[in-house]
Formats: sequence, structure tokens, C-alpha cells
Amino acid sequence: MKAEILKMLRQSDGYLSGQQLCDHFQVSRTAVWKAINQLKEEGYEIEAVRNKGYRIVDIPDRITADAIKSCLETKWMAKNLEYYDEIDSTNNRAKALGEAGGADGTLFVAETQTAGKGRRGRCWQSPAGSSISMSILLRPVMNPSDAPMLTLVMAYAATKALREKTELDIGIKWPNDLVVNGKKICGMLTEMSAQFDYINNIVIGIGINVHNESFPEEIEKTASSLLLECGHRFHRADIIEAFLEEFEAAYEVYLKTEDMEGLQQDYNELLVNMNRQVRVLDPKEPFEGKAMGITKKGELIVDTWESRKLVSSGEVSVRGIYGYV
Ligand code: BTN
Repeated sequence: MKAEILKMLRQSDGYLSGQQLCDHFQVSRTAVWKAINQLKEEGYEIEAVRNKGYRIVDIPDRITADAIKSCLETKWMAKNLEYYDEIDSTNNRAKALGEAGGADGTLFVAETQTAGKGRRGRCWQSPAGSSISMSILLRPVMNPSDAPMLTLVMAYAATKALREKTELDIGIKWPNDLVVNGKKICGMLTEMSAQFDYINNIVIGIGINVHNESFPEEIEKTASSLLLECGHRFHRADIIEAFLEEFEAAYEVYLKTEDMEGLQQDYNELLVNMNRQVRVLDPKEPFEGKAMGITKKGELIVDTWESRKLVSSGEVSVRGIYGYV
């Protein structure tokens, strides 16, 4: 009921009377008053005026299940939601629930992670109050070799949501990073549990630097945050909500053709590597060329002097030849 009251307060232009709330939930005035007090204890500033009712005055920057549910308009994505003040890694928790039969589209969010994982065995820092750390459990019926496309769908959705919420010129550095002004503000880690031709489940984790003011020395030149780029703070729950709505929509477009056909053109417009020289760090043989966008299968098209190559995201990483992008 608390999340639902919060949602009603957020959606209401003026005051919501206590009686309206009692009638809606079929509960006593004391029950409503208790829920309002709990919200106040969580930092929501709620004004109570005699004969008028309740009105929300200020919303704290919280990413709890109630905060997210109070503004979420998805059809099925993240209808199951687990929130943790602290966890080792939301990807780990999502993987465990995936093995235990957890529902498609379940969202795992944490205020902070004690063992956040980055790509290639790196650590990912998730300072409390500064970051968004979340993972989504998916159960797509598709060939395991197509799974890397889902990271692209996620990157596309995150870029659209962050552009809308920040008005920053955010782009995708293929395949996993979001960048602004040449610096990384968001990374993704996809983990899959599969048999030879069958996916049990996929977990896509996303970490967004929102209010970080500094970074460890080894990434300080290449990392940034929304706060550092915009100069102001955000309500992280609003960002999560926008992202989930974009992701649900993009994932449904993806599912229609089971490839990137419906997203390809818009994706290419957000691709920072587009028409730039890149170095493909292929473990077999690194090479350089000009990035020309993605194919329907999500591969990066790279024109070298001799030929056109298609780079698959599972295998390699890509750098700009003059730096990170
Ligand atoms: C990278 O850029 O190296 C990938 C970073 C992925 C970080 C996110 S935070 C939420 C989820 N849980 C993890 O342990 N990692 C991902």
C-alpha cells in the first residue's frame, strides 16, 4: 500500500484527502496515517493540511522498491523487483534467482555493491548515493550465439533514457559503454547460463555513474558521471524508471524480428564510433579500420584497407586509435 500511496501522491496535482485514500484501499484512517508516516521517515516531505489532505512537497533521491514502483509505467518489465541496501553484486543475485526459476524481467537494484563486477574480471565501484547498480533477469527463447545482441538493446535503451533525463549528448561506444564528452558514464555486463543450443537465462547488469565526484586513479581520465557533466543532481529512481520503459519498448521491437533490424538505424545514430578509426583488439590478430555502424545481427562493421570486417561483440573490445573512444 505504501508504494501505491506514494504513486497516487506523485500523480496528484493537489491534495489527496485521507478519505479518498481510505476508500481506495478500503483501510482505516490510522492505516493511511501510518503509511504516510513511514514515507516521511524515509525522507519524503509530505504536507498534511486539515480538511484538504496530503500533498507531496519533496522527494528524496532513493532507489528503493517503493520509490521505483511509485513512478514505473511498464507493462511487464520489472514488475518483480528486489532492492538491497547492500549486496555483493546484483548480477550474482540475478544469476542465483535465474537458476532458481525467477521470473522473466525481474529487476535487482542495490544502493551499493561490495563486489561489483566489470567486464573482463575487473571490479566495478558502486558508491552509495552516487551510482545506479541494477541487473535484469531475462528468459529469451533464442540461440545462445545471438545473446550479445541483448547488450546492444540495453545500451540503446539506456542511452535514450539518459539523453531524455539529462539532455547530455550521450552516445554508445560499441558494444557495452555509454560515453559523454569522450568519457564513460555507464557500463554493462551480460552473463548467460546456457546449454549448447538453449538459453536457461540471461542476466544483464548495468552500472551508471550518477553522482560520483571522483574516480580511482586508473580510470580517472576515462570515467565521468552525470553530475560532473551536468553540474546538478538527479532523482535516480526517475532515471531507472525511464530506462525500464525504454528497455521494455526496445526489447519488444527486438523480439519482433529477433535481431536489431527495427533498432539498427536509431542505434547507428547514437554510435560514437560511427565513421571513426577504431582498433579492434581481436585476441587472434588486432586490426584497425573505420567503424561503419552495426549489422542486423549487432556486429560492428569495420572497413579496413583491404576488406570489410564484421566484428562480433562477444569476442573482442574496440578502442579509438587516439584514445578511449
Ligand atoms: C563494465 O563496464 O566493465 C561493466 C560494468 C557493469 C557493472 C554493473 S553494476 C550492476 C551489475 N552488477 C555487477 O556486479 N556488475 C553490473
